[in-house]
Amino acid sequence: MAAVSITTEFLKRPLMTGAVTASSRRLARAMTQHIGLGEARLVVELGPGTGVFTDAVLRQLAPDARLVAIELNPDLAERLAASRDDKRLTVVHGAAAELADVAAGPVDAVVSGLPWTVMPTADRNRTLDAVAAALAPSGRFTTFAYLHAAWTPPGRHLAAGLRERFGTVDRSPVVWPNLPPAFVHRARAPKNLRLHRHAGSGPPA
Ligand SMILES: C[S@@+](CC[C@H](N)C(=O)[O-])C[C@H]1O[C@@H](n2cnc3c(N)ncnc32)[C@H](O)[C@@H]1O
Repeated sequence: MAAVSITTEFLKRPLMTGAVTASSRRLARAMTQHIGLGEARLVVELGPGTGVFTDAVLRQLAPDARLVAIELNPDLAERLAASRDDKRLTVVHGAAAELADVAAGPVDAVVSGLPWTVMPTADRNRTLDAVAAALAPSGRFTTFAYLHAAWTPPGRHLAAGLRERFGTVDRSPVVWPNLPPAFVHRARAPKNLRLHRHAGSGPPA
């Protein structure tokens, strides 16, 4: 199989990839801390790429727990599935917004490497809705943001979207040993917006 990296994929599909290089192990550690992975039964990863966060999740997951990793790029999905020999891991080639179709049951944690700031707004909203709807009430969600992009309109839209959909949202310290430096949004207490939207009453205050 030809070499596949985030850098080569960025050159081929810049908007889908959204990063010039894979995240660092330090960012992977920050992404997978404080989300109860040791007790989790079902974890979903969105946009695993070459698997930096995948490996960090698997290191902490119980022997009988499951990780479903959803990757839109077929080459990256194929490479990840072929390069990890772990029966807890299922790699799905698909879109993150479809996570309810591939991860049956309440999800204990969602770890996202998605390139939110280059995603169209409608996709970003649909995917955030799908994450909040899939999580168990005690579920946790982590996603990272590049420091330099946090104050752009898409970066602010992501932060507002998290506050709209989760009762508690906080941020990790900046992870400087990452290219570029990044921090982690940590969200919990998903709100049941779907019920409110269907009832036409908007999100709860
Ligand atoms: C910024 S890279 C991060 C890769 C890896 N998690 C890391 O941190 O090194 C974004 C990844 O998300 C994938 N991706 C982009 N849009 C997606 C979508 N809608 N659903 C699933 N994966 C997606 C890209 O193909 C890419 O692998």
